[in-house]
Amino acid sequence: MFMERFVIEGGNTLQGTVTIKGAKNSMLPIMAASVLNSSDRNIELFNIPDIIDMHVMKIILESLGLEVVFSNNTLTINTKRLSSYAVSDELMREMRSSIFLMGPLLARLGKVRVTYPGGCSIGPRPIDLHFKGLEALGAEIREENGSIFARAPYLKGAVIHLDFPSVGATENLMMAAVLARGKTVLHNVAKEPEIVDLQNFLNGMGAIVRGAGTDTIRITGVEALGSCSYRIIPDRIVAGTFLMAAAATGGEILVKGIIPSHLDAVVAKMREAGAELEAYEDSLFIRKSKLKGVEKVCTLPYPGFPTDLQAPMMVLLALARGRSTIVESIFEARFKHAYELQRMNARIHIDGRKAYLWGVDKLSGTDVVATDLRAGAALVIAGLAAEGITTVHNIRHIDRGYERLEIDLQKLGAKIQREKGLHEQKAASC
Ligand code: UD1
Repeated sequence: MFMERFVIEGGNTLQGTVTIKGAKNSMLPIMAASVLNSSDRNIELFNIPDIIDMHVMKIILESLGLEVVFSNNTLTINTKRLSSYAVSDELMREMRSSIFLMGPLLARLGKVRVTYPGGCSIGPRPIDLHFKGLEALGAEIREENGSIFARAPYLKGAVIHLDFPSVGATENLMMAAVLARGKTVLHNVAKEPEIVDLQNFLNGMGAIVRGAGTDTIRITGVEALGSCSYRIIPDRIVAGTFLMAAAATGGEILVKGIIPSHLDAVVAKMREAGAELEAYEDSLFIRKSKLKGVEKVCTLPYPGFPTDLQAPMMVLLALARGRSTIVESIFEARFKHAYELQRMNARIHIDGRKAYLWGVDKLSGTDVVATDLRAGAALVIAGLAAEGITTVHNIRHIDRGYERLEIDLQKLGAKIQREKGLHEQKAASC
């Protein structure tokens, strides 16, 4: 089968303006939450990026009987023909985020069947916290012929302490608890802006959810939820990717349509690395900057530095004067891009969850492979900054989370083309 790759001629500085669309990591749980609508009316979601993950989630919802239309970055979802409680094994393997369907299907239909989402190129990603939380809400979960079957005649509010502030588990439990009988208190939850977005969407449907953005979320269950129209928050990770691309190429760009405060930790680390950034109401401007190494970048749950920008940040630091250290504290094996960057002459030493970098003046273009979504974006940035031609293979990963990345980069002056390739293997998405 013919697959695609990016061919990049490096050495051009980025200049201009880019407008950021809705956040993938908000859109996916919110699409799953639409299952909770028991009215006949449509849900409308605005600012939806045209990315592979959206299309996969659309197919999953359609497989459950929902009518889903995507047009002009808007999704219209009608749930009146919801007829299935099972997500097929094939679709589960296609996208890890299908696990988000557990909470809402259980709440709405009293049962759900899924399979394990499988391994992932950034390391093991257990779902034990999702299960423990759903069990605390009254679900009985068992494995049947390799499938996970959960059921609960009704869910019952509970006090739940998460062992780790997992983004996905927090979201799944919120979506289950909105229809549970009584009150639920979730402690040690994730505080990401996408959690706040999900809360706002659920409340728009008639739910009673308070506290998102803090350590504790309180939910009062209601009988039923209805439809609503909702605009998804801008994608802070895509915004950060563009800022880092500008910094790596010595460019000057305006990234607009964003919520700058969502990027506070990123801006702080980029400033430490010498980047000159100015924040406006809904945009960030980055000036041509001279980069210098930073003592330590450590990925953490929000509001810490996001693991999803660790790979792009590594490219910056590979080009910054002096020495830097990156610590990946969220995922076990999220340094695969480092080995590709080494092939572009980056000086990086990996020791477990730590990466030590010594900045070089120039990276050299070569053939590299995107192993996951953000690793792929990082390799594109490296290619833009490198001398010569860089070919990034396996760009399906990049298309999962960036809407036609090459078009936005071309508008900023980058020389990047999408080409057909021959050899590409499909890895489990994550
Ligand atoms: C979400 C994001 C992903 C981001 C990640 C961390 C979406 C669709 N994806 O993924 O882009 O990189 O947050 O910010 O929103 N864990 C457990 N048991 C569980 C659940 C998680 O041990 O039941 C561990 C994971 O293995 C990982 C850590 O907790 O080490 C963080 O995972 P989590 O916050 O759940 O990430 P995701 O929701 O999968």
